[in-house]
Amino acid sequence: MCLVYQAGETFSGQEMNSQEKTARKFRSELVPRPRGAGPLILPPGFRSNGQVELEIGCGVGMRPIRYALAQPERYLIAIEHTRQRFAKFRSRLDHHPPIPNLLPLHADAVEWVAHCLGNQKLSRIWILYPNPNPKAASKRWIRMPFFQCLLESLAPEGEIVFSTNEEWYIREVKHHAIGQWGLSIVNELAFDGATAPAGYPRTHFEKKYLERGQRCFEVTLSR
Ligand SMILES: C[S@@+](CC[C@H](N)C(=O)[O-])C[C@H]1O[C@@H](n2cnc3c(N)ncnc32)[C@H](O)[C@@H]1O
Repeated sequence: MCLVYQAGETFSGQEMNSQEKTARKFRSELVPRPRGAGPLILPPGFRSNGQVELEIGCGVGMRPIRYALAQPERYLIAIEHTRQRFAKFRSRLDHHPPIPNLLPLHADAVEWVAHCLGNQKLSRIWILYPNPNPKAASKRWIRMPFFQCLLESLAPEGEIVFSTNEEWYIREVKHHAIGQWGLSIVNELAFDGATAPAGYPRTHFEKKYLERGQRCFEVTLSR
């Protein structure tokens, strides 16, 4: 039986049963190729240093732009699949001089990673405020067979950062990260508008939740 977390339930780090641990195998050959996208080609300056990061579901692009400008030694691939949000990201970019360490992609992250990322290893993967899809556990990132594919693309010292305003969801992320995928928790945060770290809010959704007085949760995972 799969565990379902309710708000307020504590994460106890309990063992997973074998059924929970058995994830369907991810089969990239069953995933459509993203239209019009070729393999990732990094600019020459980023080919060897390994600081390539991926942000999945970057929305209207506020964080990718700020992050790439602040971290010029890192190369950020920022993917958003809705047309409307990506158009806003694009128009935001039009107000900046070119940002050579940012690759904005209008694509489905599953399709793009499966077919275009190739052998490139990622030093960090950001999944910030994804929609948790409460009715379909198998569509939540941490429980998708695709998560195995993401892990395979993670560099040995790489990290995955998840954030959400739903406490049950961060518990579920931790439970599956540890029990199913054998990851460790590097860092955890819970904050509201008054206690948010410097530089937060970073994304539109984070801003919206903090302005509403909600708490946000973040966990950083590594092997
Ligand atoms: C709740 S929004 C959060 C957006 C942004 N991260 C923020 O915090 O403001 C989740 C975003 O993930 C995007 N998304 C969901 N699944 C995706 C996928 N498979 N590939 C790319 N983007 C995806 C959605 O279109 C949406 O913009």
